[in-house]
Amino acid sequence: MEERMISSHFSTEDEPMEFSLRPRYLDDYIGQTRVKENLKVFIEAAKMRRDPLDHVLLYGPPGLGKTTLSHIIANEMGVQVRITSGPAIERPGDLAAILTNLQQGDLLFIDEIHRLNRSVEEVLYPAMEDFALDIVIGKGPSARSVRLDLPPFTLVGATTRAGSLSSPLRDRFGVVSRLEYYSTEELSLIVMRAADLLGVSIQEEGAEEIACRSRGTPRVSNRLLKRVRDFVQVQGDGVITGEAARDALDRIQVDRLGLDEVDHKLLKTIITHFRGGPVGLETIAATIGEEAHTVEDVYEPYLMQIGFLQRTPRGRMLTPRCYQHFGVESPT
Ligand SMILES: Nc1ncnc2c1ncn2[C@@H]1O[C@H](COP(=O)(O)OP(=O)(O)OP(=O)(O)O)[C@@H](O)[C@H]1O
Ligand SMILES: [Mg+2]
Repeated sequence: MEERMISSHFSTEDEPMEFSLRPRYLDDYIGQTRVKENLKVFIEAAKMRRDPLDHVLLYGPPGLGKTTLSHIIANEMGVQVRITSGPAIERPGDLAAILTNLQQGDLLFIDEIHRLNRSVEEVLYPAMEDFALDIVIGKGPSARSVRLDLPPFTLVGATTRAGSLSSPLRDRFGVVSRLEYYSTEELSLIVMRAADLLGVSIQEEGAEEIACRSRGTPRVSNRLLKRVRDFVQVQGDGVITGEAARDALDRIQVDRLGLDEVDHKLLKTIITHFRGGPVGLETIAATIGEEAHTVEDVYEPYLMQIGFLQRTPRGRMLTPRCYQHFGVESPT
């Protein structure tokens, strides 16, 4: 699949920027108010008791700030963070090695935690519950289990799919927080802050223009900001005004709702060939030349989120709202 400007998935192009734009403390972290307020209380309480923070599970769509938040938690607690991910831990022994190397109070961040395999997960249970590691010594009838103590630590798990997490694992997290898509106002603030860090001058209207096309996702707004900056530096006076942002975003074909040409193609196909549906996923995929699972996982979620597309038992249906956006009369 060709890299899309509005993809919320991480791409290597994001890397240098993602690092420098990452807020470091809760006060710089914009939005997610409920999650933030709760974490503030839990962090403060843990610090007062001089305990490590309870284990935290962060879940939500890509690019909303899970990794960022895990680093912030470590900074706020004043502890070191160790980073790993579900697919990177292949065997129980890999996890045992990580756990025995932790120091008192450390934060262990496991990204994509839903991808841990079952045997590794089982090592995690006593570690999370009792700060202990059960290892089996020997084989066959003479095998015995020995329990090793681990230093108290905080596990922060991140996942885009809380549903794929096994329930024994989910139940061992004391704090479970869901990150939400950001409002346009919040994203505007995020864009203003990022522009400031990048040393680009921007007007409020310019920030809003970028924000409303960013699909509720800071990773996307950062990327669009970078592109718009290129346009104003080369072709404008270096200031991101509303008009400059609009021009640049139109040029890269991201519309007022953050839809790009691939979304347009998909929606227009359903309008012209299937009269708005219902139409099967496979049929849509074949018509636009994509894999069915790509359409389902990558294209559809945002279209459903903005109320343009519905999944029904008879197939995909477009809504009157979608027709309105394209200025076409709805058949219903
Ligand atoms: N609340 C926020 N305020 C300001 N910037 C943010 C915020 N949340 C995220 N960002 C920015 O968005 C970028 C992406 O965030 P992050 O990498 O934390 O997302 P993620 O949820 O871990 O994504 P993935 O699911 O792909 O791992 C960060 O580099 C950061 O600059
Ligand atoms: Mg991440």
